[in-house]
Amino acid sequence: MDFAGTFRIGGDMEVRRLGFGAMRLVGPDVYGQPADPAGALAVLRRAVELGVDFIDTAEAYGPQINERKIAEALAPYPPGLVIATKCGIDRRARDWAQTRTKGSPAEIRASCEGSLERLRVERIDLYQLHRVDPAVPLEESVGALAQLQREGKVRHIGLSEVSVEQIERARGVAPIATVQNRYNLADREHEAVLDYCEAGGIGFIPWFPLGDGRLCAADGPLEPIAGRLGLAPSQLALAWLLARSPAMLPIPGTSSIAHLEQNVAAARVELTPETMRELDGLWRRSPG
Ligand SMILES: NC(=O)c1ccc[n+]([C@@H]2O[C@H](COP(=O)([O-])OP(=O)(O)OC[C@H]3O[C@@H](n4cnc5c(N)ncnc54)[C@H](OP(=O)(O)O)[C@@H]3O)[C@@H](O)[C@H]2O)c1
Repeated sequence: MDFAGTFRIGGDMEVRRLGFGAMRLVGPDVYGQPADPAGALAVLRRAVELGVDFIDTAEAYGPQINERKIAEALAPYPPGLVIATKCGIDRRARDWAQTRTKGSPAEIRASCEGSLERLRVERIDLYQLHRVDPAVPLEESVGALAQLQREGKVRHIGLSEVSVEQIERARGVAPIATVQNRYNLADREHEAVLDYCEAGGIGFIPWFPLGDGRLCAADGPLEPIAGRLGLAPSQLALAWLLARSPAMLPIPGTSSIAHLEQNVAAARVELTPETMRELDGLWRRSPG
């Protein structure tokens, strides 16, 4: 199955461009155990069976539960399967208001040791700073990631929710392989970051690629075009992302095998320049 080609993360870690975001495979509000633990394992295994070789998670999902589920479902990992995880968010309660950032070198090191153990790996393929900690200079957080890289515990370093200026500061400390910012057809705030990443060979991982599910709605704004092309709205949203940039690495999330199969099939869809223009115009006319 074609995955809209591949991308070399950090120049040497090749992945198919359509990945999988595992965040949905925990409890409500991204907290606690999933309602269907066996189903969560089945979704992860089916993703790999379908050829997905890039899975995104974070210490904060569950917390810790998502990483453990990935190891339970897939370890020992098949060769070439890339698991990306993140540090920097301290999630202690279901209430998001109690969540804080944790970007000091000591906190990052402790998170890394925990993720290595939970994922059952010797080295994290892609380790992303989930959020910049306003109480810690970015250079210090990235310096801690670089030190872990030198020790062989991290292969590549990524950032999340950052500006071009922050990426440039981070690149002064260590090579940055990926950036993960919120981005989808209806939410283009980080267009400049995407262009910067593409120009610099940095993978751009759009989170909420399906607009948190809103772009999948059967009665939503994508339905008329999707219906005409014989696609699901979700497939149109993903095909648009893949066509938007060769650096784009979407990680749609789902807890449903049927949705997973539909999403993976979107990697085979090729949109004409006319359809791309039509989709672009849709949100220019009706923002939000
Ligand atoms: N860096 C960050 O700060 C950050 C923040 C949020 C997320 N993320 C990462 O980004 C990944 C993707 O984001 P996301 O999962 O939050 O949002 P998303 O991919 O935009 O949307 C997921 C939602 O869409 C629904 N969905 C998925 N495929 C569908 C389909 N084919 N038809 C109908 N509905 C469908 C899912 O419901 P069902 O389960 O019912 O399919 C779920 O409610 C996450 O898994 C996580 O790894 C990162």
